[in-house]
Amino acid sequence: MKDSVVKEAMAMRKQAVAPYSNYTVGAAVLTKSGEIIGGCNVESSSYGLTCCAERIAIYNALSAGHKKFNALAVATANGGKPCGACRQVIWDICGDITIYIADGNGNLFETTSADLLPDAFGEDMLP
Ligand code: THU
Repeated sequence: MKDSVVKEAMAMRKQAVAPYSNYTVGAAVLTKSGEIIGGCNVESSSYGLTCCAERIAIYNALSAGHKKFNALAVATANGGKPCGACRQVIWDICGDITIYIADGNGNLFETTSADLLPDAFGEDMLP
């Protein structure tokens, strides 16, 4: 499962729509039921409207009806880690899951969403 979710994240880089940064990102989530659903970054000429690969993968999975997740993989050329906004969304939607971070040279870094977002704000803070 680990290999499959990482492989899908790597494959999703090819779908990236990144004409402004040329930084292609692929992501994939592993659902609790064992399905793998991918996403890629999609950029806008109004830069702030760009959406990261991690969030697109998660939103794709939610749109397909999945609610529970075991892992997320992200792949870039240089092993870039999820941005702050994505860390919050990963935490909110997936809770504490395994995160795989792959680069273009076959290196794989493994962490968790809790380690990526210490002292997280979350639903438990809301009335
Ligand atoms: N990007 C992601 O897809 N995920 C991240 O966690 C960081 C950044 C994308 C957004 C933009 O298309 C490009 O990488 C450069 O910031």
